[in-house]
Amino acid sequence: MAKVAPSILAADFVNLERDIHDIEKNGADWIHVDVMDGTFVPNFSFGLPALKAIRDVTDMTLDVHLMIERPIRYVERFVAAGADWLTIHVEADSRENNVKALEMIRSMGCRAGISLKPGTKAEEAEPYLSLCDLILVMTVQPGFGGQKFKEDMMPKLRALRSRLDEVNPGCVLSVDGGIDGHTAPVCKASGAEILVTGSAYFKASDRKAYVRELQG
Ligand code: DX5
Ligand code: ZN
Repeated sequence: MAKVAPSILAADFVNLERDIHDIEKNGADWIHVDVMDGTFVPNFSFGLPALKAIRDVTDMTLDVHLMIERPIRYVERFVAAGADWLTIHVEADSRENNVKALEMIRSMGCRAGISLKPGTKAEEAEPYLSLCDLILVMTVQPGFGGQKFKEDMMPKLRALRSRLDEVNPGCVLSVDGGIDGHTAPVCKASGAEILVTGSAYFKASDRKAYVRELQG
């Protein structure tokens, strides 16, 4: 069974608590929180005070996706603010700093993840494979919800799954961008165990049934 992580980037921001409790009631597994800095991606979203406020109103697992430059500067603060899983982008800093950031995340008892943009090859994850608990494969360009799913990312997913089976079988694969009832099956067949879903979750007429369908 896959885990479903609704992305609150597509929530109603002035009714965020209501939408978070709705995610709890609908049987989703995690809540995905997108953090953007206007530099790594051309957009802004949630930051530290928002994450703290979200942490205060839910016990659900918070899967925090940092789309920020040089995340090493902030990972400790995001863990302290309530992240259960914290994912950084491999493109956001040097290999040395990314390794340090992953070690910092894990040393605070948080699960560490790395994410790859669509243009980043699976091999770029190689230095981090044994240092992370999750790999997030972007199936759209990071920065915005509601974009079209890139099915050509499926070979990357399969390649990462097979490398992880060799070196770190416990590490989970996650997909993010354009995930819905039509695109989730090929992701799962390619090795994804976590499905991040923003627009499609919030647009679903029966969100509980939608979550169950994706968990499948
Ligand atoms: C995009 C974010 C995603 C976004 C997905 O940069 O990382 O988490 O919320 O939204 P949908 O599901 O609408 O593509
Ligand atoms: Zn995301």
